[in-house]
Amino acid sequence: MEIIRRPRRNRNTAAIRELTQETYLIKEQLVYPLFLLPGENQRVMVDSMPGIFRLSIDSALEEIEACVLHGIHSFILFPAVPDNLKDTNATYSYQSDCFYLESIRKIKQYFPELCIITDVAMDPYSSDGHDGLVEEDEIVNDKTLPILANMAVAQAQAGADIIGPSDMMDGRIGYIRKELDKQGFHKTGIMAYTAKYASAFYGPFRDALDSAPKKGNKKTYQMNPANRREALIEGNLDFQEGADFLMVKPALAYLDVIRDFKENFNIPIVAYNVSGEYAMIKAAAKKGWLDNDKAMVEVLLSIRRAGADIIITYFAKEYASKIH
Ligand code: PBG
Repeated sequence: MEIIRRPRRNRNTAAIRELTQETYLIKEQLVYPLFLLPGENQRVMVDSMPGIFRLSIDSALEEIEACVLHGIHSFILFPAVPDNLKDTNATYSYQSDCFYLESIRKIKQYFPELCIITDVAMDPYSSDGHDGLVEEDEIVNDKTLPILANMAVAQAQAGADIIGPSDMMDGRIGYIRKELDKQGFHKTGIMAYTAKYASAFYGPFRDALDSAPKKGNKKTYQMNPANRREALIEGNLDFQEGADFLMVKPALAYLDVIRDFKENFNIPIVAYNVSGEYAMIKAAAKKGWLDNDKAMVEVLLSIRRAGADIIITYFAKEYASKIH
């Protein structure tokens, strides 16, 4: 056969495939989520997320140390708040004795060089289980902003390097940025959950934090999975309001949105490879239906290929310990 162009030549040997590989994923691009509990000596497995635990601060410090040995240097923290500390206004989130804030202080005290990202949204602390304030079954936008800002300032005071608003209220990036600056935290960064979709893939996370909405759903603030152009509106706003990072969440069903962000914004693009995406691979691998390690690498590489500079993933520790 006279075939001039034979793409298979570039796949001939492992060394050639290495040389022609377009995308790589290194540990430096990974962020590992940690679920925090009050108390001590707690290490409670999340049923739907094999390998992931809810940790009291002492156990979390051990977990962080193990991750650091594998080369993971960035963590994003989420609190599992006991029901008796929840109320309609999420007031516990900014009380100085809040165990989440205490945990941030401890982590920064033991590991000042690590990058600690925190979560800003009402749901873990809200008796309604919504990211914003609920009034007569409505999630009200503007009254939520001061609460989010209180939370953000408290986390910055505790030592957070980067604040991660995951609530999807309008105008919150600008509001939080202003409040942080007013209090002298101009060095604290903001990683905006910019295109956060109303997704079925958050299921295991809500189990882990017991943070599911008590009533209704999150569709009046999280985005419609059918929409792509609308993500660019969110992107423009968060960029203009001062976000330092733009995030797409979930990752796998939204690779086109990750690509759009990469092509339209010149700040780091983050993809959140969420709990349900992790659980799917773990469940199938447990049944012997697919190979855990190969699926993990393929999925993470595909998120990089789509354009993510940074990936938040429950696989971070496992990837760092197995690959390279
Ligand atoms: C809510 C929040 C959610 C996640 C991070 N922050 C879930 C939700 O919107 O209900 C999900 C993360 C995951 O599924 O891994 N503020």
